[in-house]
Amino acid sequence: MNTLTKLALGLMGQVKPRPATGHSASRWVLPPPDQEGGMPLMQALHQRQSQREFSPQALTQQQLADLLWACGGVNRPGLGGRTTPSAMNAQELRIYAALPQGLFRYQPATHELELTSDRDVRAVTGYQDFVDTAALDLVYVADHASMKLVPAARREAYALTAAGAAVQNVYLYGASAGLASVVRAWFDRDALSEAMGLGSDEQLLLTQTVGLPKVCCPA
Ligand SMILES: Cc1cc2nc3c(=O)[nH]c(=O)nc-3n(C[C@H](O)[C@H](O)[C@H](O)COP(=O)(O)O)c2cc1C
Repeated sequence: MNTLTKLALGLMGQVKPRPATGHSASRWVLPPPDQEGGMPLMQALHQRQSQREFSPQALTQQQLADLLWACGGVNRPGLGGRTTPSAMNAQELRIYAALPQGLFRYQPATHELELTSDRDVRAVTGYQDFVDTAALDLVYVADHASMKLVPAARREAYALTAAGAAVQNVYLYGASAGLASVVRAWFDRDALSEAMGLGSDEQLLLTQTVGLPKVCCPA
């Protein structure tokens, strides 16, 4: 669906999820993340960029596992420490994966995806047309109930800081793995919140599309 159509439908409250396609088990055990490989950090930083043309090809399970671990997985199991920082270690950031098979919440402790909706909400994650068909749209949500020790006036800023760190980890993983990515703040918050069934303590922060880059065919 193109952007203008989406904007018009959005004004009418008509941007809706689609039926999911493919496998949608309630729990999706991911392969262990590959913590050895990848490009040297300075090369990945050199290549980090936003890209907006995606192939519809699915990510492999390993790519999904590595990407989600980079995004917010546990890297110090003894402490439960994560790949991204968190103010007062509140761990308020919820990472959702919108896939053709449905909407899943990433569970860092078990490195699993948990199905939270059996609908394909990718099209609702942004006004830009590529979000509908790219392999993965990540949605970053702050769980304010986890931030009771953080002063209320600072919660949103702190959660956005944590989301920014996760976003950059995904950009760097993408650069290393040859995947395209773009972080996005331009989406219909009411429509996405409704499509995801978020509660009053859950605040949408950012979205991020990830997928294989679209291969351009020379004329
Ligand atoms: C908070 C934030 C929100 C953004 N929102 C969008 C968006 O909704 N759509 C989009 O295409 N790009 C979005 N971007 C990506 C920027 O347009 C992009 O980072 C900028 O053009 C610089 O390009 P680069 O990332 O390749 O360096 C956003 C970036 C940030 C930091």
